[in-house]
Amino acid sequence: MKKLNIGLVGYGFMGRTHSNAFTQVNNFFDLEYRPVLKAVCARDAEKARAFATKWGYESIETDWRKLIERDDIDVIDIAAPNNVHAEIAIAAAKAGKMILCEKPLALNGPEAEKMVAAVTKAKVPNMVWYNYRRVPAVTLAKQLIDEGRLGKIFHYRAKFLQDWTISKDLPQGGAGLWRLDAKVAGSGVTGDLLAHCIDTAMWLNGSIDTVTATTETFIKERKHTLTGKVEKVGIDDASLFLARFSNGSLATFESTRYARGHKALYTFEINGEHASIFWDLHDLHRLQYFDHRDQGAVRGWRSLHITDSDHPYMKNWWVPGLQIGYAETFIHQVADFLQGLSKGKIPGPSFKDGLATDYVTDAVLKSAKTRRWEKVKKIK
Ligand SMILES: NC(=O)c1ccc[n+]([C@@H]2O[C@H](COP(=O)([O-])OP(=O)(O)OC[C@H]3O[C@@H](n4cnc5c(N)ncnc54)[C@H](O)[C@@H]3O)[C@@H](O)[C@H]2O)c1
Repeated sequence: MKKLNIGLVGYGFMGRTHSNAFTQVNNFFDLEYRPVLKAVCARDAEKARAFATKWGYESIETDWRKLIERDDIDVIDIAAPNNVHAEIAIAAAKAGKMILCEKPLALNGPEAEKMVAAVTKAKVPNMVWYNYRRVPAVTLAKQLIDEGRLGKIFHYRAKFLQDWTISKDLPQGGAGLWRLDAKVAGSGVTGDLLAHCIDTAMWLNGSIDTVTATTETFIKERKHTLTGKVEKVGIDDASLFLARFSNGSLATFESTRYARGHKALYTFEINGEHASIFWDLHDLHRLQYFDHRDQGAVRGWRSLHITDSDHPYMKNWWVPGLQIGYAETFIHQVADFLQGLSKGKIPGPSFKDGLATDYVTDAVLKSAKTRRWEKVKKIK
């Protein structure tokens, strides 16, 4: 079995999901490659060492530049906040490393363009962790659409709702709260939550041509954890937009961190001429499907339980009827990446796909300012 040495940057939420995936993937998928947890990098040596001990990393680094310089690292896995993705990825590409990068790819389209240019020039395998593509129910939705079961698609409706920033006493910036700091996050829910919805939407339904958006920052000032001062909040707390897809369908997207009672309610519904699909992250192992061609007496919404061996990825797991969850989507992504290495063709989402999503979020943020429909930049 070929070894693939991983150098992870960032040991937070995503550092854990990725590490879990690297550790588990060979237990469930037959692969030519085996990831080796070679080094974890974070600025605090003590914390990095504690993480390395817990998860089985062989060594630590406190500067990602040192990690990239190392000859014994094959893959740089970026699980740090958004403002450092570009710098790390561009340096990693120059050093000839393969790159797995968290979403959103960059703070904005122009920055993401430089990342795409770097990996294209270096010809290094690259992927963005838009993991929702690899929820088996979502992958099945893609298959049903590609088989033409829905027919012409008219509507796409997505939302991603949370409620964790409602308190005005919550500070911005620093560990755990960088998502509220525009300099680190790039934007608020647009780049954080809607980016997921946009990636899934374009994967399922093709590219988006134009958008019109409105955003709001409900709490205008918050204390900054790092400076100790009360500072203006630069992120969007809520973001809603209408979109027109290239295939003629219309869409609504909504995201907020002010929907009391919702922790991570990501849902989408797609309506086609023959059939419709609905999916809900809180019930991620189910796909709701309605097919108008069913016999009238038994026609209705079917709740498909995505646990059978003929469902995407599921033959690698337990027995039919038993579910998998969130963590497994990252395992699927690693499995697909490793299979892609063996075949010489890495599946998406690529850096180019990440750039396409950044172009949409750029257009959304622009439209929220201009209050006009804005064109989405297309990848050359
Ligand atoms: N795919 C998904 O579903 C998903 C979910 C959550 C977060 N994310 C993305 O993953 C990334 C990380 O988010 P998170 O929730 O894990 O954040 P987190 O705050 O839990 O962890 C971030 C980690 O990065 C480290 N870090 C920060 N700056 C660094 C630097 N300069 N060098 C090295 N390490 C540094 C921090 O110490 C911490 O360990 C973000 O880009 C975020 O948008 C994706």
